[in-house]
Amino acid sequence: MVEWIKNHRAAAIAAALAAATVALAVIAFVSRKPGETLNPQQQIGVKWIKPPGSEADYAGSEACKSCHIKEYQEYHASPHSHTLKQIVNGDERPEFALKQTVMDDRNNVRYSVAKGGGKNQEVAATPSGSQAAAARWAFGSGAQAFTYLAQNGPKFLQLRVSYYPPVNEWNFTPGSGPGTPFHSALGDPYNSTEAAACFGCHSTALIGTRKSLDLAHSVMNVGCESCHGPCRTHVNQSRRSVDLPLEKRIKPPLNNGPAAMDLCGSCHRLTVAVADENMASSAQLARFPGQALPRSRCFRESAGRLSCVTCHNPHESTSDQGLASFESKCISCHTAPHGSPCARGETFGCIKCHMPEEKIAARLSLKFHNHWIRRNPLGLD
Ligand code: HEC
Ligand code: HEC
Ligand code: HEC
Ligand code: HEC
Ligand code: HEC
Ligand code: HEC
Ligand code: HEC
Repeated sequence: MVEWIKNHRAAAIAAALAAATVALAVIAFVSRKPGETLNPQQQIGVKWIKPPGSEADYAGSEACKSCHIKEYQEYHASPHSHTLKQIVNGDERPEFALKQTVMDDRNNVRYSVAKGGGKNQEVAATPSGSQAAAARWAFGSGAQAFTYLAQNGPKFLQLRVSYYPPVNEWNFTPGSGPGTPFHSALGDPYNSTEAAACFGCHSTALIGTRKSLDLAHSVMNVGCESCHGPCRTHVNQSRRSVDLPLEKRIKPPLNNGPAAMDLCGSCHRLTVAVADENMASSAQLARFPGQALPRSRCFRESAGRLSCVTCHNPHESTSDQGLASFESKCISCHTAPHGSPCARGETFGCIKCHMPEEKIAARLSLKFHNHWIRRNPLGLD
């Protein structure tokens, strides 16, 4: 299967770039060779790019607030609403004031962070000197992690260390662990097409061309219109004609039911046909619910009745939704006319045993619930 799906982010690009030698005297913002073919991750990026001017089709999530207050409030408190942020000089980012170092012994680089001239910087110290780059884009809501991109015109660098708020720790960016060969000690250089993959899955509409992204006109963060499509006409019409009968209104699509698998999967990874054994050996599976869920008998044997939105309120953060609400969904299908729906006689705690939380890398704090629902993933007696 497509390599980038397994590795997420940088690994695929890093591997492609990794000319076996590890050059320490590197220049940041190196370019790729012209004419190089696009890898699958880059193609994903291209898919997201919308031509200049199409931002006019989008109303932005704030425009929905006045009429859909419940959805707006739930959404506003969920990680989708703040998974991408621009960093400008002078921004107070306390994590860049932490005195921590991250050592890559094998490549002989020491990473630290610093505040300088109002900038929030990452510093890579090698035996031949230090280099620094200012973080310009923070990816992630911080619920699990922030990964930063530096920017110089159409060129980007994915910085090699990320900040993990739950453990208050700087550590390697996933896919860039110690000893990973690199092109620049500071991080992986991306041109605008490559960076479009990151920006695309973390935004609503990416405006520009392959050669240059117009981030100033792009609609940042996963917004209402990531899932309901551009809503300018719906908003304008709803505002103008409050008396119009409901059936005459332009309503945006809901994308519920089986369509949600494609919608959510466009970012949370689409279903792929891979043998169970291969998927089990993939430490990354827990991160990709779009691939994990379709492995489950619950999904395969319920004739299209199970999708992401069977269990998830798409607007709400999972922590606000609460575990009990998820377990009530299990019980809604696994009815128990004579007591428990579970062969072990359990009546609650379904998630802990059948969708356990897993780490995707030993060193990192990142954890995800494995959506491959199975009899006994924990190997209980
Ligand atoms: C001026 C008020 C107004 C604004 C602003 C507005 N909507 Fe609506 N929206 C409505 C009305 C009225 C309906 C029809 C409700 C119904 O069918 O019960 C509707 C329906 C919808 C539906 C379909 C619901 C269904 O059951 O099929 C979606 C999705 C939706 N709006 C999303 C949005 C989004 C996203 C935004 C912001 C970009 C937005 N709306 C802005 C008034 C508004
Ligand atoms: C195919 C869509 C997609 C692409 C491409 C993508 N992301 Fe994500 N990203 C997600 C989704 C979905 C999540 C939430 C859960 C997850 O998969 O980690 C996420 C989560 C994150 C997080 C929060 C921590 C975590 O792992 O949950 C960070 C940080 C992040 N992405 C950074 C990036 C960066 C930097 C890039 C580009 C190198 C990138 N992402 C490319 C979809 C994507
Ligand atoms: C992550 C994708 C996603 C985002 C973001 C999102 N929605 Fe939805 N929304 C959905 C899906 C999917 C449904 C259908 C849910 C179902 O039928 O179970 C839905 C349903 C709705 C409905 C109909 C609710 C009902 O009870 O029938 C409205 C109105 C709506 N969304 C408005 C919004 C607004 C406004 C925002 C932003 C504040 C928003 N949505 C953000 C995916 C999303
Ligand atoms: C849309 C309905 C539906 C939902 C929701 C659902 N399941 Fe299932 N599940 C099924 C069906 C259908 C099967 C196939 C076997 C059967 O009929 O019992 C199944 C099978 C299973 C199995 C046996 C798996 C195996 O490999 O033998 C387990 C364990 C299970 N479900 C647990 C859960 C848990 C835990 C939840 C909630 C997180 C859940 N299910 C939610 C429909 C559902
Ligand atoms: C059978 C119920 C069920 C279905 C179906 C389901 N999820 Fe989940 N999901 C859960 C539960 C339970 C959690 C953990 C909630 C918590 O921590 O409170 C979760 C958590 C998540 C998380 C947070 C990260 C993590 O793994 O802890 C993401 C992202 C996610 N689901 C995406 C999806 C997507 C995308 C789909 C559709 C492909 C989907 N889910 C389908 C039950 C479900
Ligand atoms: C445009 C890309 C995109 C789409 C479409 C999308 N997501 Fe997400 N989702 C993300 C990203 C990025 C994150 C990481 C948020 C963060 O930084 O923590 C995320 C995080 C989540 C989380 C974890 C946050 C939490 O509450 O714990 C859940 C659950 C989730 N998405 C469910 C869904 C569901 C369900 C759908 C479909 C209805 C969906 N997403 C559609 C990009 C997307
Ligand atoms: C303490 C861990 C634990 C909890 C909590 C738990 N289960 Fe189970 N469940 C198991 C194990 C282990 C098996 C496999 C037993 C076997 O193969 O003999 C199982 C089997 C099942 C099966 C397959 C039944 C069959 O006859 O094929 C279903 C369905 C199921 N559980 C659903 C649930 C639901 C729904 C919940 C929540 C109400 C739940 N379980 C809570 C551990 C648990």
